[in-house]
Amino acid sequence: MTNGNIQIALIGAGGMGQGDARLAQMVEGVKLIAACDLYDGRLERCREKWGTDLYTTRDYREVLARKDVDAVIIATPDHWHSRITIDALEAGKDVYCEKPMVHALDEGPKVIEAQKRTGRIVQVGSQYASSIVYAKARQMLKEGAIGELNSVEAWLDRNTAIGAWEYSIPPDATPERMDWDRFLGSAPKREFDAVRFFRWRNYRDYGTGVAGDLFVHLLTGLHFATGAMGPSRVYATGGLRFWKDGRDVPDVMLALLDYPAGQGHGGFNARLKVNFESAEPEESFGVQFVGSEGTMTAGYSSLEVSRHPREKEPGYTIGTFPKKVQKEFLAEYEKKYPPRPPTADSMTADKKDVFAPPGFNAHLEHHKNFYAAVRSGKPFFEDAVFGYRAAGPALLTNVSYFERRICGWDAERMQETAA
Ligand SMILES: NC(=O)c1ccc[n+]([C@@H]2O[C@H](COP(=O)([O-])OP(=O)(O)OC[C@H]3O[C@@H](n4cnc5c(N)ncnc54)[C@H](O)[C@@H]3O)[C@@H](O)[C@H]2O)c1
Repeated sequence: MTNGNIQIALIGAGGMGQGDARLAQMVEGVKLIAACDLYDGRLERCREKWGTDLYTTRDYREVLARKDVDAVIIATPDHWHSRITIDALEAGKDVYCEKPMVHALDEGPKVIEAQKRTGRIVQVGSQYASSIVYAKARQMLKEGAIGELNSVEAWLDRNTAIGAWEYSIPPDATPERMDWDRFLGSAPKREFDAVRFFRWRNYRDYGTGVAGDLFVHLLTGLHFATGAMGPSRVYATGGLRFWKDGRDVPDVMLALLDYPAGQGHGGFNARLKVNFESAEPEESFGVQFVGSEGTMTAGYSSLEVSRHPREKEPGYTIGTFPKKVQKEFLAEYEKKYPPRPPTADSMTADKKDVFAPPGFNAHLEHHKNFYAAVRSGKPFFEDAVFGYRAAGPALLTNVSYFERRICGWDAERMQETAA
């Protein structure tokens, strides 16, 4: 730390990286001093935004070698996350790494081990873990506001080209202005291809498809709210229905997950859905918790709860019985459940409660939580273990989809098992 400031470097200065760097600098006592990227245009943009004193490089190892960098934000494509995280931890830096924490399942234990071995802070960048909407959902679930949880539906639907990851390619996307070989990293070697560089999410060599990109957010919210560690079984289906632009990942994906009892809840099933050619005019996002006595839906910035207390009376289906039997049945029934005349209380104007905290920005809070952890040395709960408990099952939905099989998952040990 220099003059009480946490000095940070940004590694991966694209859309999210520049967004993260902006939010980080809104936190008091945080100073961005270096940025690393593989397209020169993005480094130039960082200097336009944050001053020509900003140190810029194409090689993240130069940033890690700097003694004056306390922490790094990693916002590269997914296939670089674990490698840079581990190198940064070993260089003594605290790490804010964008979701999904890893690109492949076998990378998770390595990041967890590096976090333990170095004792440094790792925080994964799925901001739902810092959302007061999900904190409220967690509290209400604990208090039994919707009775016993039995299922969860979570979705993120879009219907625009940008929503489907067809990002802009700059006119100066040339081999001279970009470091293609470094971009590839551990991915299979290929000829220079600006489309793959700027739209890396569409290719499994660098991205994780909708599973790692979006299911992981849904799972972060779900795990935070329910306290669940993860599913025991995962099945996914889907297809490439509309965005046939050369991508090798689906644009519609559905996943079913079994959450067994014993992780602080009585067991439930979850269904996740992403649809990039949804009929809805606006992006639609939500996690809906269904319980025995109500439903709770968490969106980006609000939580809606509707309660449906269970009817005390079971009701009856006696129309097919002979008249005499119906009469006998009714007499018994009314003895047990005397008819109640309607009262003013039996009418409620609105059973719905909506919690919508004004002006709350979960992403900014997530950065505040990270820098508080860096200062105090006490990690925020979305560490490597939490991050992998969300990323692991999300990546397993890809295994299920591509290998057409049901997958088992040991959430406690964070390992694939027999289904
Ligand atoms: N938390 C969220 O809500 C959220 C939202 C969007 C993206 N993300 C995550 O942020 C990450 C980046 O996504 P994006 O949309 O900003 O992508 P992007 O393509 O806009 O930016 C990625 C940048 O990383 C650079 N890069 C690639 N390899 C590098 C390397 N080895 N060293 C340094 N720089 C490298 C590229 O040049 C590019 O500029 C992804 O992991 C994504 O999942 C998170």
